[in-house]
Amino acid sequence: MAEDQIDLFSPEDTEPSPASVDYDAIPTRASVPIPRGVYDDLDALGIHCRSCQRCELAASRTHVVVSRGSRTAPILIIGEGPGQQEDEQGLPFVGKSGQLLEKILAAVRLDTEKDVYICNIVKCRSPGNRVPTADEMAACKGYLLEQIRMVDPKIILLTGATAVKGITGEKRGITKIRGQWMEWEGRLCMPIFHPAYLLRNPSREKGSPKWLMWQDIQTVKAKLDELMGEG
Ligand code: URA
Repeated sequence: MAEDQIDLFSPEDTEPSPASVDYDAIPTRASVPIPRGVYDDLDALGIHCRSCQRCELAASRTHVVVSRGSRTAPILIIGEGPGQQEDEQGLPFVGKSGQLLEKILAAVRLDTEKDVYICNIVKCRSPGNRVPTADEMAACKGYLLEQIRMVDPKIILLTGATAVKGITGEKRGITKIRGQWMEWEGRLCMPIFHPAYLLRNPSREKGSPKWLMWQDIQTVKAKLDELMGEG
């Protein structure tokens, strides 16, 4: 371990290390990026995330929220960060936004156990659910990049402006870019509204956020069917 790094993985707060985790290779300081390819599998990543102290969110979290869904899913969904319910349960999108997300996916026959892998830009809840800071997003980004590398989805869904900015750096608002395919690192990404935004805008009229989401999710399903040879 580099001399300037503090070893924050003391035996009492760390799960047993699988042989595949080389802890010395994983920087505990947020200013040192997590190297690409450092994890052999998602179990190793999860164990490391759960003992992470790379940013200040570690101090106030109840649980680290790593993921749910299928590790071989063709669609990877990225949210902003855990809310209260997610922090309590240790799973992403299990509160009201998550219930709406499930409905949206079910409307195009996407199964959350089989077809999607769900995760977030940051893995710990921010105080009062504020938008994560640039430093918090940067500290967590290596984990997300590793999740994307290992799940290797055909399509990435970016829910809301923070997810878009956190992954691609794109600063345009979500209303400008939703529904348009983006290429990022050779991957096909679709920015969509965050379900929480839809909860605040319940109208289903033509042109409303909910109506636009319905268009977008159908576009995504059609592309998936095409990529899977079912189009
Ligand atoms: N909102 C998010 O962006 N992510 C969650 O996991 C829950 C709510």
